[in-house]
Amino acid sequence: LRPTHRLLSCSGTVAADVKREEQSSRNVETGSEDRTPKKKFSEVQKERREQAQRTVLIHCPNKISEKKFLKYLSQHGPINSHFFYESFGLYAVVEFSQKESVTSLQNVTRTPSMETEAAIPFKSRFFNLKMKNPSSQTSEQSCIQSSNHSPPSNKKLSELLCYAESMDDQLNTLLKEFQLTEEDIKLRYLTCSLIEDLAAAYFQNCTVRPFGSSVNSFGKLGCDLDMFLDLDEIGKLNTNKTSGNFLMEFQVKNVPSERIATQKILSVIGECLDHFGPGCVGVQKILNARCPLVRFSHQASGFQCDLTTNNRIALKSSELLYIYGTLDSRVRALVFSIRCWARAHSLTSSIPGSWITNFSLTMMVIFFLQRRSPPILPTLDYLKSLADAEDKCIIEGHNCTFIRDLNRIKPSGNTETLESLLKEFFEYFGNFAFNKNSINIRQGREQNKPESSPLHIQNPFETSLNISKNVNQSQLQKFVDLARESAWILSQEDKDRPSPSSNQPWGLATLLQPSVLSSVSLAKKKRKKPASERIKNLLESIKSSSPENDTHTNGK
Ligand code: GTP
Ligand code: MG
Repeated sequence: LRPTHRLLSCSGTVAADVKREEQSSRNVETGSEDRTPKKKFSEVQKERREQAQRTVLIHCPNKISEKKFLKYLSQHGPINSHFFYESFGLYAVVEFSQKESVTSLQNVTRTPSMETEAAIPFKSRFFNLKMKNPSSQTSEQSCIQSSNHSPPSNKKLSELLCYAESMDDQLNTLLKEFQLTEEDIKLRYLTCSLIEDLAAAYFQNCTVRPFGSSVNSFGKLGCDLDMFLDLDEIGKLNTNKTSGNFLMEFQVKNVPSERIATQKILSVIGECLDHFGPGCVGVQKILNARCPLVRFSHQASGFQCDLTTNNRIALKSSELLYIYGTLDSRVRALVFSIRCWARAHSLTSSIPGSWITNFSLTMMVIFFLQRRSPPILPTLDYLKSLADAEDKCIIEGHNCTFIRDLNRIKPSGNTETLESLLKEFFEYFGNFAFNKNSINIRQGREQNKPESSPLHIQNPFETSLNISKNVNQSQLQKFVDLARESAWILSQEDKDRPSPSSNQPWGLATLLQPSVLSSVSLAKKKRKKPASERIKNLLESIKSSSPENDTHTNGK
């Protein structure tokens, strides 16, 4: 169970950042993208990481005067920004202007003395604030402004979607409600930074970087926090600086393989988190997985964390997805809605299994957008052709090179609406020849499947691998059936859309109701012909009678 965050108050650069984000979105009237320069993935990571290193996490008493609290902390230096949130107690995230302020605060902090238990005296940046004289302060407490920081309930989402003005508005509303907030992002980077402090006790100057949906622009409130313990950077910077005829190397222990080294490192970090990590609970070492990891819960932030190492390619995948998600504002709106649709119909699950993952779904949306005419997203090979010498990146023999500066990628001339893209997505995959074709975002076109897995999505960097190898035939069929049924529902809806004030689910809201699609499935069972085939035929007839669709055949 994840605690929901209730954000209570904030200050500093948050408003400015939100404004920047709004500015960089699509202009609703002209349909064109705003041309605000977009930051490189590495720039965002560097900035956020540096910010997190100046930040502390404080568990506060419930009744606290915000003014006095800030005044007390300011003794250690100026504060850049702060916010409060609730997660089984009241927490404050405080970003100082200078890193020295954190050391100054640590220097006046004591290790608690226990009566019946013993404390492990680990000095982190996660503190517990106590009142010296609680009774004298409660009367003066200021009212900490409360605002909700958790994803909307199904009911609220349904209401918001019903009142939306158009389907495009619905998809954008869903994105706005579910995307990570500025505070949530800060808390994710801070959590990585706190774990990095622990890992650094063993591996000096190591880096713990977030990857996956926390940073790839497709993160939904409440998603897990994937972390990567980066040991490669250590020493790299300094080796070129030495002069003379000698080269100095560390004496190290050798193990038979990279995998065993990874397992040993994660094992010791897992122990460390379990024994010394403040707020780290439920530590599980999953070292025999294809990609060994340590899973744990960071109680104060409420994040479920997966820590891996030796996983550079995954970080590069996150960078690629960040580029795709940031290039055109329709991409994220479509991905969020399709992920939500898949979750609502149990096509995806938080438990690993033979179902489609969010990562695979995102790849399918990217591929679909590469197939539009004109394409909305460029192929990975095209992004590689734009790369310069500095972008060159080879990881474990795999070429992971692509242009990293988003501002040098030409925007798409495609002006399709989100409504039409959603419909076309369902039609496209409702009719896709999964039995013989593979999805390949590197080339942006279907390829013959190299192996017999029901769903084949080529790993963009390790090209001999299939990222959806886990998906079985029945899960794929469920996806295809639901896609066809959804396309059918959307084509019917056009004819009798309720007025926005009628408070009746329509458009995206209808698609997110499991009962609606299952009633279509029920009807299917009653007819002689399978509904999937019936709907396919129906779609064919709709398509052939609609002249504007003639250009969108997408190689079907
Ligand atoms: P959420 O469901 O929101 O957590 O999405 P996510 O993208 O973070 O997915 P997940 O936590 O499952 O995985 C984290 C990252 O690991 C992904 O973003 C990918 O970069 C990588 N990854 C996940 N699954 C696979 C896979 O099957 N193959 C490869 N090559 N990488 C994967
Ligand atoms: Mg994840």
